[in-house]
Amino acid sequence: MATTTRKKQIGLKPGGDRRYAHVVGWGVEIPERVLTNHEIEMMVDTNDQWIRERTGIAERRIADDRDTTVTLGVRAARKALSHADLNPSDIDLIIVATSSPAYLFPATACLIQDRLGATDAGAFDVLAACSGFIFALGLASAQIRAGMVNTALVIGTETLSRIVDWTDRGTCILFADGAGAFVLHASEVPGGVQHVVMHSDGSGGELLCAPSGVRPTWNGTPAPDVLTQMNGREVFRFATRVMVSATEEVLDKANLTTSDIDVVVPHQANLRIIQAAARGLDLPMDKFIVNIDRYGNTSTASIPIAVAEAVESGRIRPNDKIVLVGFGGGLTWGAALIEWQVMATPASAAREVVREGWYIVARIRSLMRRVFRFLEAVLGGSPTSEALRAEEKARRSSSKPSNNDKPER
Ligand code: ACO
Repeated sequence: MATTTRKKQIGLKPGGDRRYAHVVGWGVEIPERVLTNHEIEMMVDTNDQWIRERTGIAERRIADDRDTTVTLGVRAARKALSHADLNPSDIDLIIVATSSPAYLFPATACLIQDRLGATDAGAFDVLAACSGFIFALGLASAQIRAGMVNTALVIGTETLSRIVDWTDRGTCILFADGAGAFVLHASEVPGGVQHVVMHSDGSGGELLCAPSGVRPTWNGTPAPDVLTQMNGREVFRFATRVMVSATEEVLDKANLTTSDIDVVVPHQANLRIIQAAARGLDLPMDKFIVNIDRYGNTSTASIPIAVAEAVESGRIRPNDKIVLVGFGGGLTWGAALIEWQVMATPASAAREVVREGWYIVARIRSLMRRVFRFLEAVLGGSPTSEALRAEEKARRSSSKPSNNDKPER
């Protein structure tokens, strides 16, 4: 039952000779709190006109104190699953791209996996700064195309406001919070994520970094809480160059030219960088999705948020060839070529109720597991190998959904 709606749309029959990775669901989570340029004027020596002219940003969103990179990611993921009309039990793989993880470890992806109750999914994070979503999309689509998994959840989620230096006018005007998610699903129907290119140059690592988190040596003193640092001019020069080269490279791989592109979704870092990319590619600005004026730079979340808005507003339509292109700290940069197939259709109310129930059960199951683990530690001592095998067998049989719930293979 799980994939009925999407199967009708793109004839999903994963398992054939040729497999394609289609984006079948998308979701965004935008924090409610708006932080305007005028408010930032009260914090550092800057002004609204300078910020608008040099960056294109008018306002950005800041996460509520109760929210984290995990909670934003969970809400974006739930909306994406709802669009895809899939259950958490359908997910085989969760990849989270983030520059502001909740912890060094556990991975933000694992915490999201637990909240969703995606009990069959492997989950891990990708750390490639603002290029992270494209890198994660590359990994997930390759897994699907290779036949390793059928359904993958790719999330970009950030609370950058927590690692921004709010006394540094060069960076605090740019960064913001938000999350976006894609559900990818296997299909025999040509299209979906066609090519992804990824590049890195660690020699430019110090140009944009948040060097906190670990001690400099094993016996050194803990690292000070060092916030995001950036050489804006150098990053700007690098960005304008690689936005063009990455787009051209991904098009070359598909034997396409810029005239074949319907829509470009660039990483929303600076309007002037996007305009320079448009000039470099000799494309009109109306081919570019731009929402930086409202959201600022949300790093890994910026591309999925922009895609979701473009699909919802009809700027991205079935059969459109779209290029996602981004760059970030690392240095990293990359691009993805997608032949878009699926439009938004409302999920059935009944299935929505099932999903809501699943999320409640997931919370209870997570709590129970913690309680059992605690009791086991207090009462049981070290488990024997027989007990471990029995426990693993029980876990596998309890987490397997019925065959009816699995996507067609
Ligand atoms: N308000 C007013 N004046 C400012 C501000 C500000 N917020 N910030 C800098 N200035 C001043 C500078 O001090 C400088 O003054 P000076 O000439 O007296 O020295 C002047 O404005 C020009 O400074 P530049 O750094 O040359 O300004 P620029 O036009 O390059 O804009 C900016 C700065 C917006 C940071 C730009 O360089 C940029 O966008 N760079 C790319 C940043 C980026 O994309 N980062 C994200 C990467 S993605 C990721 O991985 C997270």
